[in-house]
Amino acid sequence: IKDIKVKILTAEDLDISKFYRYPDSHKGDYGKVGIVAGSKYYPGAAALCSNAALQSGCGLCYLLTPKEVLYFQNFRRPEIIVLPVESKEGIVSFDGFVKFDEYFAKFDVLGFGCGLTKNKEVEKILIHILENFQIPIVIDADGLNVLASSRDVRELLASYKSQKVLTPHYMEAARVLDVDVKDVAKSPIDAAKKIASEFRAICVLKGSRTIITDGDEVFINILGNPGMAKGGSGDVLTGIILSMIAQGYSAFEAAKLAVYLHSLSADILLEKKTMQTILPSDIIDGLDSTIKRLI
Ligand code: APR
Ligand code: MG
Repeated sequence: IKDIKVKILTAEDLDISKFYRYPDSHKGDYGKVGIVAGSKYYPGAAALCSNAALQSGCGLCYLLTPKEVLYFQNFRRPEIIVLPVESKEGIVSFDGFVKFDEYFAKFDVLGFGCGLTKNKEVEKILIHILENFQIPIVIDADGLNVLASSRDVRELLASYKSQKVLTPHYMEAARVLDVDVKDVAKSPIDAAKKIASEFRAICVLKGSRTIITDGDEVFINILGNPGMAKGGSGDVLTGIILSMIAQGYSAFEAAKLAVYLHSLSADILLEKKTMQTILPSDIIDGLDSTIKRLI
């Protein structure tokens, strides 16, 4: 039985020791998250990811986003520090991005991909990051799309030394593995393990039953509900993973904790709301009662 390495994710698998905040602690003790996200077309992805990071305990959250995204002040928490990047038609530009290079020494973890769009500039930026920095990285959405289509990104990511988390949904996993999405659906555990091994990363394969693996051990999450099947839920998960890593968790522990918190929050929301009405923003607000229930 000791060889069985597939497990249902339960509260017992979670390490919540770092949720204790020492009375004499300061924001530096809870980590700095850097997020590269958003475009004129998907400003909300940047807001959801950074709001979620902030609402799950990190000390500081920096958002690098095209300056056009800043017109959408109303749904971004004021605590988020924004580094406005010069854009090419509303999409982050490489030249605009490299001006912020000096900030990267500060970040404890970097999030890349939500709402960036799939674009040559986005690919250039990811290559630049992988070549020049050594920061734990969480790659989602368009970061995964760029990974799927660029041999350079694939090679650089596989040999990148810091901790990595990849968070594909089934379609993104199929693109990364260059297989049909039906093959991923047929054997999702194998797909997740394959991604984890190829890139020496933690893979969070998202779906109604999210799989978390380091390529060896596998955890399956059974919480969550179809009320989460709405654009933006994934961006929220990315933000929570980032925040957990910033607070000192390893990539694997952070992924487990974040998937659990994210889906439990959506389940707790159903005590008062419905699957129709709960929104990804509500999952962020719901982290309040969720974390209270866990600690
Ligand atoms: N039951 C439980 N959990 C669910 C369910 C369900 N029926 N449906 C979705 N979820 C959860 C998933 O486990 C995952 O955590 O909601 C989240 C959905 O994440 P994504 O698939 O990444 O969706 P989304 O937030 O829309 O992504 C934003 O990025 O990946 C791209 O193309 C995507 O444009 C989209 C954007
Ligand atoms: Mg997504």
